Amino acid sequence: MTAARFANPVFVALDTPDLSRALELAAAVKGLVGGLKIGLEFITALGPEGIGKIVALGLPVFADVKFHDIPNTVAGAARAIGGLGVDIFNVHAAGGAAMMRAAAEEAAKFHPRPKVIAVTVLTSLSDTDLESVGQAAPARAQVARLAGLSKASGLDGVVCSPREIALVREACGAEFLIVTPGVRPAGAALGDQHRVMTPGEAVRAGADILVIGRPITGAADPAATARAIADEIAAAR
Ligand code: C5P
Repeated sequence: MTAARFANPVFVALDTPDLSRALELAAAVKGLVGGLKIGLEFITALGPEGIGKIVALGLPVFADVKFHDIPNTVAGAARAIGGLGVDIFNVHAAGGAAMMRAAAEEAAKFHPRPKVIAVTVLTSLSDTDLESVGQAAPARAQVARLAGLSKASGLDGVVCSPREIALVREACGAEFLIVTPGVRPAGAALGDQHRVMTPGEAVRAGADILVIGRPITGAADPAATARAIADEIAAAR
């Protein structure tokens, strides 16, 4: 499948511990984005109740929970997050095949089934950082290895940097879901993201979902920015 399966592939990252701010942002961009992403900042501060309020808005929700623990514990966490009605959640591929299979098996018990995707290598880690934690392989080789392991373990896709989209698509095929952060409209501030692509470039490279935070949430007019990004993507397709 390609990005065409999502009429609008942009999931806006609601990176805030403030529920009213998150709801205000979501209301501003509803109809202009394809979904909402909540991560550890939101989830740790606001818990299941906050997640439920986001799910209740009716847009697809990606819970960026990044589970990484023994299979039994991840299975329990997968049951809990699946029970909150999110559409996508994730685990760290480095947790191993049994852990990923446990998450996928729990997800399969829900109707509709949430998609389970894996973080391969955090985009904040350099080759030197990987070496320092005992991973001799360069990041790209590790991404390809872990994406393949994620697929073999029954997961639906991975999160990867825009630069790795082609590599993962090649390794895992057309049906595999590729979710990418590190997306910046031309001229937008990079913040702490280094290896970025524009929304049009990321979609052309084969991304299915673009997670975009600050360029939208930090804009003076989030709705106008989300609309401009949607127009750019439509033109790129
Ligand atoms: O504000 P910005 O567009 O940089 O937000 C990107 C979002 O994607 C944030 O929620 C961040 O946590 C998430 N993310 C990332 N890099 C990863 C995984 C997730 O930037 N490797």
